[in-house]
Amino acid sequence: MRSKASWGYHDDFMARFGATSVTRNLVDAGRDCVVAFDGHRAVGFAVLDDEKERAWLEDLWVEPGYFGRGVGRALVGACVKRSREWGRRALELESDPHAEGFCTRLGAVRFGERASAVAPDRNLPLMRLDLDRYVSVVPIPYSGGW
Ligand SMILES: CC(C)(COP(=O)(O)OP(=O)(O)OC[C@H]1O[C@@H](n2cnc3c(N)ncnc32)[C@H](O)[C@@H]1OP(=O)(O)O)[C@@H](O)C(=O)NCCC(=O)NCCS
Repeated sequence: MRSKASWGYHDDFMARFGATSVTRNLVDAGRDCVVAFDGHRAVGFAVLDDEKERAWLEDLWVEPGYFGRGVGRALVGACVKRSREWGRRALELESDPHAEGFCTRLGAVRFGERASAVAPDRNLPLMRLDLDRYVSVVPIPYSGGW
Protein backbone atom coordinates (compact mmCIF):
# COMPACT_ATOMS: atom_id res chain seq x y z
CA MET A 1 0.00 0.00 0.00
CA ARG A 2 2.87 2.40 0.79
CA SER A 3 4.26 1.65 -2.63
CA LYS A 4 1.03 2.43 -4.48
CA ALA A 5 0.31 5.50 -2.34
CA SER A 6 3.66 6.96 -3.40
CA TRP A 7 2.03 7.94 -6.72
CA GLY A 8 0.00 10.52 -4.79
CA TYR A 9 -3.40 8.78 -4.76
CA HIS A 10 -5.87 10.21 -2.26
CA ASP A 11 -7.03 8.24 0.78
CA ASP A 12 -10.49 7.44 -0.66
CA PHE A 13 -8.93 5.76 -3.66
CA MET A 14 -6.42 3.86 -1.53
CA ALA A 15 -9.26 2.60 0.68
CA ARG A 16 -10.97 1.14 -2.42
CA PHE A 17 -7.75 -0.41 -3.50
CA GLY A 18 -7.34 -2.06 -0.10
CA ALA A 19 -10.26 -4.33 -0.98
CA THR A 20 -7.93 -6.31 -3.21
CA SER A 21 -5.26 -7.09 -0.65
CA VAL A 22 -1.87 -7.69 -2.18
CA THR A 23 -0.82 -9.76 0.80
CA ARG A 24 -3.60 -12.19 -0.08
CA ASN A 25 -1.79 -12.74 -3.36
CA LEU A 26 1.30 -13.78 -1.47
CA VAL A 27 -0.42 -16.61 0.32
CA ASP A 28 -2.59 -17.84 -2.56
CA ALA A 29 -1.53 -21.36 -3.44
CA GLY A 30 0.14 -22.04 -6.73
CA ARG A 31 1.55 -18.58 -7.27
CA ASP A 32 5.18 -17.80 -7.76
CA CYS A 33 6.56 -14.97 -5.68
CA VAL A 34 9.92 -13.23 -5.92
CA VAL A 35 11.11 -11.13 -2.99
CA ALA A 36 13.97 -8.61 -3.06
CA PHE A 37 15.94 -8.21 0.16
CA ASP A 38 18.33 -5.57 1.42
CA GLY A 39 20.04 -7.61 4.10
CA HIS A 40 17.17 -8.97 6.18
CA ARG A 41 14.69 -6.36 5.01
CA ALA A 42 12.18 -7.17 2.27
CA VAL A 43 12.16 -4.15 -0.08
CA GLY A 44 10.04 -5.40 -2.95
CA PHE A 45 8.15 -8.35 -4.33
CA ALA A 46 6.50 -9.68 -7.46
CA VAL A 47 3.75 -12.28 -7.92
CA LEU A 48 3.75 -14.24 -11.16
CA ASP A 49 1.13 -16.56 -12.68
CA ASP A 50 1.62 -19.08 -15.45
CA GLU A 51 -1.15 -18.86 -18.01
CA LYS A 52 -1.60 -20.79 -21.24
CA GLU A 53 -0.15 -18.36 -23.73
CA ARG A 54 1.79 -16.09 -21.43
CA ALA A 55 3.11 -15.39 -17.97
CA TRP A 56 1.12 -12.77 -16.06
CA LEU A 57 2.77 -10.37 -13.61
CA GLU A 58 0.02 -9.92 -11.06
CA ASP A 59 1.88 -7.74 -8.57
CA LEU A 60 5.07 -5.69 -8.60
CA TRP A 61 5.80 -3.53 -5.58
CA VAL A 62 8.93 -1.78 -4.42
CA GLU A 63 9.37 -0.04 -1.06
CA PRO A 64 9.26 3.71 -1.90
CA GLY A 65 12.62 4.45 -0.23
CA TYR A 66 14.15 2.02 -2.73
CA PHE A 67 12.65 3.45 -5.93
CA GLY A 68 15.17 4.12 -8.67
CA ARG A 69 17.80 1.70 -7.38
CA GLY A 70 17.20 -1.19 -9.74
CA VAL A 71 14.94 -3.28 -7.47
CA GLY A 72 11.99 -3.23 -9.92
CA ARG A 73 14.25 -4.21 -12.82
CA ALA A 74 15.78 -7.04 -10.77
CA LEU A 75 12.32 -8.36 -9.81
CA VAL A 76 11.15 -8.27 -13.43
CA GLY A 77 14.41 -9.97 -14.46
CA ALA A 78 13.69 -12.83 -12.04
CA CYS A 79 10.14 -13.08 -13.41
CA VAL A 80 11.45 -13.18 -16.98
CA LYS A 81 13.76 -16.06 -16.03
CA ARG A 82 10.89 -17.97 -14.42
CA SER A 83 8.57 -17.31 -17.38
CA ARG A 84 11.16 -18.67 -19.79
CA GLU A 85 11.50 -21.78 -17.62
CA TRP A 86 7.74 -22.24 -18.10
CA GLY A 87 8.27 -21.95 -21.86
CA ARG A 88 6.36 -18.69 -22.13
CA ARG A 89 7.33 -16.15 -24.77
CA ALA A 90 5.54 -13.13 -23.30
CA LEU A 91 5.23 -11.58 -19.88
CA GLU A 92 2.18 -9.36 -19.53
CA LEU A 93 0.81 -7.09 -16.85
CA GLU A 94 -1.75 -4.43 -16.10
CA SER A 95 0.33 -1.39 -15.22
CA ASP A 96 -0.42 1.54 -13.00
CA PRO A 97 -0.42 4.59 -15.33
CA HIS A 98 2.48 6.06 -13.34
CA ALA A 99 4.51 2.89 -13.90
CA GLU A 100 4.03 2.70 -17.68
CA GLY A 101 7.34 4.54 -18.22
CA PHE A 102 9.11 1.93 -16.11
CA CYS A 103 7.59 -0.88 -18.19
CA THR A 104 8.55 0.90 -21.42
CA ARG A 105 12.09 1.40 -20.13
CA LEU A 106 12.34 -2.36 -19.69
CA GLY A 107 11.19 -2.88 -23.27
CA ALA A 108 7.50 -3.59 -22.75
CA VAL A 109 4.93 -2.28 -25.21
CA ARG A 110 1.34 -1.29 -24.58
CA PHE A 111 -1.06 -3.68 -26.32
CA GLY A 112 -4.33 -2.44 -24.87
CA GLU A 113 -6.03 -1.11 -21.81
CA ARG A 114 -8.84 -2.14 -19.52
CA ALA A 115 -10.95 -0.72 -16.74
CA SER A 116 -9.49 -0.99 -13.26
CA ALA A 117 -11.19 -3.63 -11.11
CA VAL A 118 -11.34 -1.25 -8.15
CA ALA A 119 -12.06 1.98 -10.04
CA PRO A 120 -13.96 1.19 -13.27
CA ASP A 121 -13.78 4.84 -14.31
CA ARG A 122 -10.01 4.41 -14.75
CA ASN A 123 -8.39 2.69 -17.71
CA LEU A 124 -5.11 0.93 -17.05
CA PRO A 125 -2.46 0.15 -19.66
CA LEU A 126 -1.89 -3.50 -20.57
CA MET A 127 1.82 -4.06 -21.20
CA ARG A 128 3.65 -6.90 -22.90
CA LEU A 129 7.31 -7.86 -22.65
CA ASP A 130 8.46 -10.00 -25.58
CA LEU A 131 10.69 -12.62 -23.94
CA ASP A 132 12.41 -13.52 -27.21
CA ARG A 133 13.77 -9.98 -27.31
CA TYR A 134 14.23 -9.19 -23.62
CA VAL A 135 17.85 -8.46 -22.71
CA SER A 136 18.79 -8.82 -19.06
CA VAL A 137 20.76 -5.89 -17.68
CA VAL A 138 22.96 -6.81 -14.74
CA PRO A 139 24.67 -3.88 -12.98
CA ILE A 140 28.38 -4.55 -12.41
CA PRO A 141 30.38 -2.38 -9.98
CA TYR A 142 32.76 -0.26 -12.08
CA SER A 143 35.85 1.35 -10.62
CA GLY A 144 37.10 3.14 -13.73
CA GLY A 145 39.33 1.90 -16.55
CA TRP A 146 39.00 -1.31 -18.51
C1 LIG B 1 7.21 0.89 -10.85
C2 LIG B 1 8.23 0.38 -9.83
C3 LIG B 1 8.04 -1.13 -9.65
C4 LIG B 1 9.65 0.65 -10.37
O1 LIG B 1 10.59 0.08 -9.45
P1 LIG B 1 12.04 0.72 -9.27
O2 LIG B 1 12.82 -0.19 -8.40
O3 LIG B 1 11.93 2.14 -8.85
O4 LIG B 1 12.61 0.68 -10.77
P2 LIG B 1 14.13 0.53 -11.23
O5 LIG B 1 15.01 1.34 -10.32
O6 LIG B 1 14.47 -0.90 -11.40
O7 LIG B 1 14.08 1.25 -12.65
C5 LIG B 1 14.44 0.64 -13.88
C6 LIG B 1 14.46 1.72 -14.95
O8 LIG B 1 13.14 2.26 -15.09
C7 LIG B 1 13.15 3.67 -14.87
N1 LIG B 1 11.92 4.00 -14.13
C8 LIG B 1 11.57 3.59 -12.89
N2 LIG B 1 10.34 4.05 -12.57
C9 LIG B 1 9.94 4.78 -13.63
C10 LIG B 1 8.73 5.50 -13.92
N3 LIG B 1 7.73 5.58 -13.04
N4 LIG B 1 8.63 6.13 -15.12
C11 LIG B 1 9.64 6.07 -16.03
N5 LIG B 1 10.81 5.37 -15.83
C12 LIG B 1 10.94 4.75 -14.64
C13 LIG B 1 14.39 3.93 -14.03
O9 LIG B 1 14.85 5.25 -14.19
C14 LIG B 1 15.35 2.90 -14.58
O10 LIG B 1 15.90 3.40 -15.79
P3 LIG B 1 17.48 3.21 -16.14
O11 LIG B 1 17.60 1.77 -16.51
O12 LIG B 1 17.72 4.14 -17.24
O13 LIG B 1 18.25 3.54 -14.91
C15 LIG B 1 8.10 1.12 -8.46
O14 LIG B 1 8.11 2.51 -8.72
C16 LIG B 1 6.83 0.79 -7.68
O15 LIG B 1 6.79 -0.22 -6.95
N6 LIG B 1 5.79 1.64 -7.80
C17 LIG B 1 4.58 1.53 -7.02
C18 LIG B 1 3.82 0.28 -7.31
C19 LIG B 1 3.36 0.17 -8.75
O16 LIG B 1 2.98 1.12 -9.40
N7 LIG B 1 3.42 -1.07 -9.23
C20 LIG B 1 2.96 -1.39 -10.53
C21 LIG B 1 4.10 -1.65 -11.41
S1 LIG B 1 3.51 -2.11 -13.05
